[in-house]
Amino acid sequence: MNCMVKKESEIEKMRISGKLAAKVLEMIEKYVQPNISTEELNNICHSFIKKNNAIPACLGYHGFPKSVCISVNDVVCHGIPNKNKILKIGDIVNIDITVIKNNYYADTSKMFFVGNTSILSKYLCKVTQESLYASLNIIKTGIPIFKIGETIENYVESHGFSVVKEYCGHGIGSVFHEEPHILHYKNNNKTLLKNGMIFTIEPMVNAGKSEVKCMKDGWTVKTKDHSLSAQYEHTILVTNYGCDILTWQKKEKILPSLKN
Ligand code: MF3
Ligand code: CO
Ligand code: CO
Repeated sequence: MNCMVKKESEIEKMRISGKLAAKVLEMIEKYVQPNISTEELNNICHSFIKKNNAIPACLGYHGFPKSVCISVNDVVCHGIPNKNKILKIGDIVNIDITVIKNNYYADTSKMFFVGNTSILSKYLCKVTQESLYASLNIIKTGIPIFKIGETIENYVESHGFSVVKEYCGHGIGSVFHEEPHILHYKNNNKTLLKNGMIFTIEPMVNAGKSEVKCMKDGWTVKTKDHSLSAQYEHTILVTNYGCDILTWQKKEKILPSLKN
């Protein structure tokens, strides 16, 4: 029983993994510029992760060919870094980092802007990040899991955007994807959150309709209507009074420990 609750010794390792994953996102920011390829960004992340005595978890995961996922504009998730995919002014870019350090995973992603981007792009990213933060704000021991998806979907839809249904947040620890599944839309999961659970929340939000399609490469997921898509992801620890954001970045305007 209680396989979803981590021991204190595991939590300590997850804090270290989480800090490193966050540092990769902080480190890569200055390289996200016009004319760089997504493969070059991948390689910089790869070297940084290795230099920090960790493993890029995506490399070889179910055959994924690169070390991180980089998803540009209408790519929803699982974009494969490519030397021919060159960033240009106005692009919005999600970089999704998963590291393994001391056998424990941490998973986080955020959006980057390439030069000046449209008002719609900025607003989409802002709403997506705020939907994640709104869900973090309600988390604490005793809350049913369905509250997370309800909070995210209500926030996103009240701002005129749509939530992708095909992918969800997940428990994480010495395994990349484990129980519980965290849906980002209204659902019926009455499981109560418990002190010591660690999972990701990672809403994918489309400017247009919520439908997605997977490309022939078997990985790249795009919006069906070619609208823009944004995603933010954190790995979090449930506490008695709120949550600890294990992948919190220094520049974030939200507290690393939320006491609810
Ligand atoms: N990081 C993704 C997640 O948030 C998973 C990527 S799997 C990969 O769960 F194989 F595409 F890298
Ligand atoms: Co994840
Ligand atoms: Co991820």
